[in-house]
Parts: sequence; C-alpha cells; structure tokens
Amino acid sequence: MRPEPGCQRCGLCKGRTQIVFPDGDPSTGIVFVGEAPGENEDLQGKPFVGRSGKILDGMMEEAGFSRKDVLITNTVKCRPPGNRDPTAEEMAACRPFLDSELENARLVVGLGKSACRDLMGYDGPMGRIANVFTEIEVNGKKVRFLPTYHPAATIYNKTSREDLRVAMHMVKEELE
Ligand code: URA
Repeated sequence: MRPEPGCQRCGLCKGRTQIVFPDGDPSTGIVFVGEAPGENEDLQGKPFVGRSGKILDGMMEEAGFSRKDVLITNTVKCRPPGNRDPTAEEMAACRPFLDSELENARLVVGLGKSACRDLMGYDGPMGRIANVFTEIEVNGKKVRFLPTYHPAATIYNKTSREDLRVAMHMVKEELE
C-alpha cells in the first residue's frame, strides 16, 4: 500500500517537494524505519541520502552489508517543515503505509526516538531500550523489533555511535 502521488492525509503535503518512498529490497524481510525525510531526501525522493544517510551507509558497510540488502523507510513519507519531529497525528495518518511495509518483515529496526514512539509507543530515553530485541504488533501480527539510535544522534555521542555500530552487526547476523 502506497500513498497516492497527490496524498493529502496530513498537512505535510503542503511543504513537500515529493513523497519519499521506501528504498532497498523488501524481499530480505529486514526493514529500517527512520524518522522523516529531511531536505536532501525531499529533493531526491529517496530516504537517508543526506548526512544521516552517509553515517548509516558507512556503518552498514563496516558491518558487511549495504542498503540494497534491507528496506529503508520512515515513519512519515513527507518532510516536516524545518525538519521538526513528525507529530503523532502525522505519524498516524501515514501509519497504514508503514504497516504494509512492515507486516511481513522478519526484523524491523527502529532508528531513533520517533520510530520507537510510533511503533513501540515508547517515549523514554533510548539508552534504556537500545539494541535489545523486542516485539511490536503490526496489523495484528507480532514482528521482531530492534530499537536503536538514529544516525543523527550519533554525530556527537560516542556511546550511541558505538551502539548503532553494534546494531548493524546484529542486523548482519540476521542476514546470514
Ligand atoms: N533521512 C531520512 O530519510 N530519515 C531520517 O530519519 C533522517 C534522514
């Protein structure tokens, strides 16, 4: 299930250049969920192509896989103005699309607070849940979930950078 090209389910349609659809390979069953498209993603129509994307690409490469081996998507498919966090209402409006991307996954990786808020209903510090497997419910089905840090949160924080690295190695093991 994909948003119509002219989707107006929420107010984010007013500021977007284009809808940013998932990128990668859905057949491996591993799906990364980020927060929302930023400026570069909005312009290029692809998730994680800006600064966060470079960090993520580098860490995947270090762990021995690439974005072609997973599906990369976001809680909302349109850029929030000024890169603010997407609201609960915006995430709820986009949720049917996300659910259809996740329902047959064998592992969903939640990158950062917005993904964990949307998918786990968790609103506390990431340090409490990062890199511990749990389960979420998607369209009535239980799906394995790995909460971890958003690449942007690792720029000035060595501990979260190391944890995201470890998470990428955990994903690599799943791919083998
Ligand atoms: N780019 C994305 O596509 N998602 C994010 O969460 C951040 C940057």
